[in-house]
Amino acid sequence: MCEKNVLVAVDGQTVELKVRSGTIGPDVVDIGSLYKQTKMFTYDPGFTSTASCESKITYIDGDEGVLLHRGYPIEQLAEHADFLEVCYLLLYGELPTKAQKSDFGDRLTRHTMVHEQMSRFFTGYRRDAHPMAVMVGTVGALSAFYHDSTDITDPHQRMIASLRMVAKMPTIAAMAYKYHVGQPFIYPQNDLDYASNFLRMCFAVPCEEYVVNPVLARAMDRILILHADHEQNASTSTVRLAGSSGANPFACIAAGIACLWGPAHGGANEAALNMLAEIGTVDRIPEYVARAKDKNDPFRLMGFGHRVYKNYDPRAKIMQKTMYEVLDAAGHSDDPLMKVALELEKIALSDKYFIEKKLYPNVDFYSGITLRALGFPATMFTVLFALARTVGWIAQWNEMIQDPDQRIGRPRQLYTGEAKREHVPISQR
Ligand code: ACO
Repeated sequence: MCEKNVLVAVDGQTVELKVRSGTIGPDVVDIGSLYKQTKMFTYDPGFTSTASCESKITYIDGDEGVLLHRGYPIEQLAEHADFLEVCYLLLYGELPTKAQKSDFGDRLTRHTMVHEQMSRFFTGYRRDAHPMAVMVGTVGALSAFYHDSTDITDPHQRMIASLRMVAKMPTIAAMAYKYHVGQPFIYPQNDLDYASNFLRMCFAVPCEEYVVNPVLARAMDRILILHADHEQNASTSTVRLAGSSGANPFACIAAGIACLWGPAHGGANEAALNMLAEIGTVDRIPEYVARAKDKNDPFRLMGFGHRVYKNYDPRAKIMQKTMYEVLDAAGHSDDPLMKVALELEKIALSDKYFIEKKLYPNVDFYSGITLRALGFPATMFTVLFALARTVGWIAQWNEMIQDPDQRIGRPRQLYTGEAKREHVPISQR
């Protein structure tokens, strides 16, 4: 018997299950044959002990607070690379050479505009719609505008769809913002870098010159890097599950955006800023910390805790540094919410409840204050997350489509409803 197998005793019967090892991280027990051998399923709501796929893209060690993309630590990427290079890395597995980066930039640039008909599609939404509602609808509608790149069996079409998605997402996100605030759409300007172009599409108006502040553009770029991928989180798993049925990539990314919107996931950055605003002043922090600890109160400290990180989220540290840079450049270094956030973090990190449950600030804790200082309203925060995560979703989707073991995702269940019973005519009920 191979020592990498485990023996599991089920009802007096011993079954042998294969153990598979990755490059780093815990081994996994392959339970694919369990039902065949034992007529039993496993039960793991929320997938706390279940690996849903094999992946080469991102690795997280939650206990140590480590995040690697294709092996590179997030700290090094945030410091030395730009978002375009990180996109290339996630999609193709290696950092680009100078020539590869320039070629990739050119190819993306050719796809930054959206079909002109889409602007009319936008104006069908109510003005007061949440921009995430607009994003879910509009990205889903991309397959109605670009049906020449929806054949997932064709590698060329998959590549075009991937480039289109990464290139058009800033344009769509900026259009969602402009529509939200009632200003005219601004077309992309392709001689600008990815982040600067996005800031310009959001904040330029036709009646005056807009000059991108390089400090703010670099901060925007770093925020995009920090959110680019995070292995098999809820929205990425949603993209993979939607894609496992053969759905087209635009529809899959729209499904990911819908999942990201929830306050337990990407919606937490908006919720965290709203919470800081509600707390308002440092003296009210103890009241909110007490509420977060109260089992009878559903309130949670937003931007705190993580399914995987049981240590400081490495992205939160970089985000905190970025926050200082942005507040300084935007002339808001005395932002009262920053004071509340810093004090809240200090109090929570020294509180027994948070220490015992290993609840640390996550990336969303400081991103709200930073994005607000960049000029975005809270309703746009999750849209920016979706924009950044698109490359991760599309890289994971591509990996899944090319995985020879890929099958339609179809979880099983523990049924606890009524057993079989006879229909009773309505007159006798
Ligand atoms: N405030 C107070 N208590 C918390 C918090 C919090 N933010 N987060 C978790 N806890 C407590 C729970 O009440 C639970 O206590 P119990 O064991 O006594 O029942 C324990 O810590 C474990 O929490 P779970 O909800 O079981 O952990 P899970 O891994 O399912 O959830 C999650 C992780 C959703 C992120 C959770 O920590 C949370 O709701 N945080 C606030 C929302 C947030 O910031 N989300 C952003 C996540 S990062 C991202 O998506 C980019």
